[in-house]
Amino acid sequence: MNDVPTVTLNNGVQMPQLGLGVWQAKDGEEVESAVLAALEVGYRLIDTAAVYGNETGVGRAIAKSGVPRDELFVTTKLWNSDQGYDKTLDAFDKSLTRLGLDYIDLYLIHWPVPAAGKMVETWRAFEQLYSDKKVRAIGVCNFTPQHLELLMHDTAVVPAVNQVELHPRFTQQETRDFCKAHGIQVESWSPIGGGGGDLLSEPLLKEIGDKYGKSPAQTVIRWHLQNELVVIPKSTHSARIAENFDVFDFELSDDDMSAMRSLDTKSRVGADPDTMNAGVPLGLAQFAHKLGLVKWRK
Ligand SMILES: NC(=O)c1ccc[n+]([C@@H]2O[C@H](COP(=O)([O-])OP(=O)(O)OC[C@H]3O[C@@H](n4cnc5c(N)ncnc54)[C@H](OP(=O)(O)O)[C@@H]3O)[C@@H](O)[C@H]2O)c1
Repeated sequence: MNDVPTVTLNNGVQMPQLGLGVWQAKDGEEVESAVLAALEVGYRLIDTAAVYGNETGVGRAIAKSGVPRDELFVTTKLWNSDQGYDKTLDAFDKSLTRLGLDYIDLYLIHWPVPAAGKMVETWRAFEQLYSDKKVRAIGVCNFTPQHLELLMHDTAVVPAVNQVELHPRFTQQETRDFCKAHGIQVESWSPIGGGGGDLLSEPLLKEIGDKYGKSPAQTVIRWHLQNELVVIPKSTHSARIAENFDVFDFELSDDDMSAMRSLDTKSRVGADPDTMNAGVPLGLAQFAHKLGLVKWRK
């Protein structure tokens, strides 16, 4: 069942190249059934975060699935208001408890929050968790090359992963080049353009997809895979979860990959990492999510 290609992280850990994102999947039945549907189809990477408020449901689905723990790759993230050495260790324990796991595969700093000036002490706590073998790999999200330089200047472990907004309209070439030069795997969030975006209605994606008998979403997911990115499309619908996984039986031609470069308008759907807020408290951010005030988390 598990035929997802993997990438090898800079510490030797294998990470599936395609996974399920669960941002905006409600805790309880919605996230549980999405994760169970994904595991059934063959996904092995699940991407959650403390602020998504659904780690409990993700953990329940994992427990119900019967998939052996060592076949799974579970990512979660530290929310902004929990940055700082002691707060990070505490927040990690809470995530682990909610997930019902005894280790995490990949733990990520959710945003750099440069104005708070805590990324280095936060990373030292990540290094502690890593040396205590509570996490198999540690990484960051939304770090620009400048943030990464700051972090790496004062710490010992090079991040294994940088998860950033990345899709054909926002290709992040500078960050990708920097990460490649430093052995950091890039992972794409909002890979098919995000919930509010209209990337999938680009005529070019339909035109290219039609040649292979694939949908625009499958075409874009394939573009990520062929760019050596890890990709985590989100859906709570089992048909789409299956569709997004059915991308291993075709290959986009060099011409089609080149044609897709014309879609790059350097436009984000999410927040700018330099100005992302300094840390709405976790509980409040989760409450805002429930009310649909999701901008805080993008
Ligand atoms: N680190 C960060 O700061 C950060 C930020 C944002 C996201 N992320 C992670 O990245 C994951 C993916 O990003 P995202 O959720 O923002 O956006 P996305 O995966 O690009 O897009 C998700 C949207 O596309 C729809 N969709 C899914 N499959 C589809 C298909 N085959 N055809 C048409 N529509 C489809 C989904 O709707 P339905 O669910 O209704 O199917 C949802 O509205 C998140 O879930 C999260 O795990 C991380």
